[in-house]
Amino acid sequence: MKPWLLIDTDPGVDDALAILMAHRHGRIAGLSIAAGNVGLDRTVANALKLCDVLGADIPVFAGCPLPLVRAAADAAHVHGADGFGDTGYLPSRRIAASEHAALAMLRISREHAGEMTIVALAPLTNLALALRLDPTLPQRVPRLVVMGGAVSGRGNTTLAAEFNVGFDPEAAAIVFGAWPRLELVDWELTVRHALDFARCEAWLATDDPRARFYAAISRKVRSFSRARGRTGLLAADALAMAVALEPGLVTAGEERHVAVELDGTLTRGSTIVDWERRGSASANARIVMAVDQARFEALVASALGAIA
Ligand code: BDR
Ligand code: CA
Repeated sequence: MKPWLLIDTDPGVDDALAILMAHRHGRIAGLSIAAGNVGLDRTVANALKLCDVLGADIPVFAGCPLPLVRAAADAAHVHGADGFGDTGYLPSRRIAASEHAALAMLRISREHAGEMTIVALAPLTNLALALRLDPTLPQRVPRLVVMGGAVSGRGNTTLAAEFNVGFDPEAAAIVFGAWPRLELVDWELTVRHALDFARCEAWLATDDPRARFYAAISRKVRSFSRARGRTGLLAADALAMAVALEPGLVTAGEERHVAVELDGTLTRGSTIVDWERRGSASANARIVMAVDQARFEALVASALGAIA
């Protein structure tokens, strides 16, 4: 049976790939939308456009337009000013639901109590708000997979912080503090599991609307990655989605306590892992250390229609 998923997302080029994967291999109960890669109006519009590409009536819920405490810079320099590679796509005629993302999360968690995975691919603002509204949320949600953090301090937004945690550190601190055992897919794992450029090009050449759309919106990100000398396409959210869809593809993991730094001059938004188990707090995260690359790539390729 395909898993039920609630996806908190800020589409975003790699978010789009993750959502294509979720539609192919899971059942999407809703998309709750955060600000992050670009502003909330754009991330909502991009989510609605993806529903067009998929031909799927997935409910889309707009969430918080700003981080909980301090404003933060977006990632338009990576994802494009529109968050989808500035292709000038025809906007969707769909509209978002009137319910707020945090309230939708709580409602859907009751409707699917005990059987749903939350996949958090964005700054954790909506989830933190939902937890503050209803701290019993984790009791109804067996799995939370978070794309976030840089577990040994090799960040991608500041030197030490990864974007999703760095954009809204207070929200991340609330989620990491409240969730009993989240599954963490961090930036450093993403770098170790880049998608080979040549294989990506082959998948994207498939005669399928999903491949065509993704080829267009990812063009800038792919050339940005090549220009930065990357070995392949870094698809953080797709990797987190792979873990959510197929937990068995994780080949190595570490259970540790992870906290979020809120104050550091150089380190605000970094994830502090108790690697040596020196603190008294028990592990709150299963940190994914390695996945089966072939299985990850098969999930991506099939989501693009390149294989069955
Ligand atoms: C994360 O930040 C965003 O730019 C991506 O969509 C991903 O969720 C990677 O650090
Ligand atoms: Ca994202």
